[in-house]
Amino acid sequence: MIHERELAGLEAGVVGLGLMGSSIAVALTIAGHPVRAVAPLKNELTAARKTIRQLLQHAAGSGLLQHSPEYYLNRMTLSEDFKILKNCSLVQECVVEDKAIKAAVYEKISAHTREQAVISSNTSAIPVSLLQELVPDPGRFLGIHWAEPAYLTRFMEITRGRQTRDSVASWVVDLAHCWGKEPTFLQKDIRGFVTNRLMYAVYRELFTLVAAGETTMEDADKAFRYDAGSWMSFMGLFERMDQLGLEDFLETFSRLFPELGNASEVPEIMQQIVRNKARGTQEARGLYAYTPEGAAAWENAFAEFNKEIYHLADRYQELKNG
Ligand SMILES: NC(=O)c1ccc[n+]([C@@H]2O[C@H](COP(=O)([O-])OP(=O)(O)OC[C@H]3O[C@@H](n4cnc5c(N)ncnc54)[C@H](O)[C@@H]3O)[C@@H](O)[C@H]2O)c1
Repeated sequence: MIHERELAGLEAGVVGLGLMGSSIAVALTIAGHPVRAVAPLKNELTAARKTIRQLLQHAAGSGLLQHSPEYYLNRMTLSEDFKILKNCSLVQECVVEDKAIKAAVYEKISAHTREQAVISSNTSAIPVSLLQELVPDPGRFLGIHWAEPAYLTRFMEITRGRQTRDSVASWVVDLAHCWGKEPTFLQKDIRGFVTNRLMYAVYRELFTLVAAGETTMEDADKAFRYDAGSWMSFMGLFERMDQLGLEDFLETFSRLFPELGNASEVPEIMQQIVRNKARGTQEARGLYAYTPEGAAAWENAFAEFNKEIYHLADRYQELKNG
């Protein structure tokens, strides 16, 4: 078992300083690691430093910091040079979801780290077993899949690839507990891991209903928010079945499962909207219409919501545990 004190002696690297990389760098510095953050793209550093400062301020406002944001920023090294990774025990790759780009980044990470350093990927979709073939020692490679914002969510999926060593996987699971996570450990590298498989089953049903004209996007969103959204942070689905009564569920499964969508094609509505270059709230144009101000307000409100839900879920977990 790793003691949280030990994190100060374990340098952690982050490569790729976009949305998730910046957020993960903040999570690791708050946990106590000296963080070495690499921006692989030219001219990304200034924006990354600004983002990391803002995220630290958000973390401070969420009651997560023991010191000032400046204290954490000063303990972090940001650079375009992979050499800063030389003493890292763990390097988290967070670059775009593109195998060739990840391969080029692993080559640089491997060239600049010690032999025993563990390399992890935040990939959501590329099999870990494929990615681990791109590093010199696949045994010390695995998937660490974070959720956004990385410093304010308990979620973490740790996935071993076919060649990941047991000792490496269990060391990372221990570390994740020190980072304040509730990690799930996947022994086998299945596509989409667990969380994406669950959510994508819901997305498919959503598109099936909307395409058939059974409901609208607005109503489907409302049903999801005000039903599942009212209990999901309190309990999981198996716990929910126990709470509501298993016989009723059995009866509903037998009636409803044959009626659920099972299409394997990408939904036409999504193909159309993406063809029309809509990218979502980031660019104020998505499945819904947004003004730039509305999209920004939406993002700010979500940041506030994250703060509350993080603490709320914790408080009720304690009550549940008696
Ligand atoms: N966005 C999420 O909520 C989320 C959640 C879980 C996992 N992920 C995964 O995390 C990884 C990063 O996602 P993100 O959302 O932070 O992406 P992002 O687009 O915000 O950032 C990607 C970063 O990749 C790097 N990069 C881009 N092009 C590059 C190139 N040609 N060579 C080297 N580096 C390059 C840059 O540092 C860039 O900032 C992806 O594998 C993604 O699937 C994202």
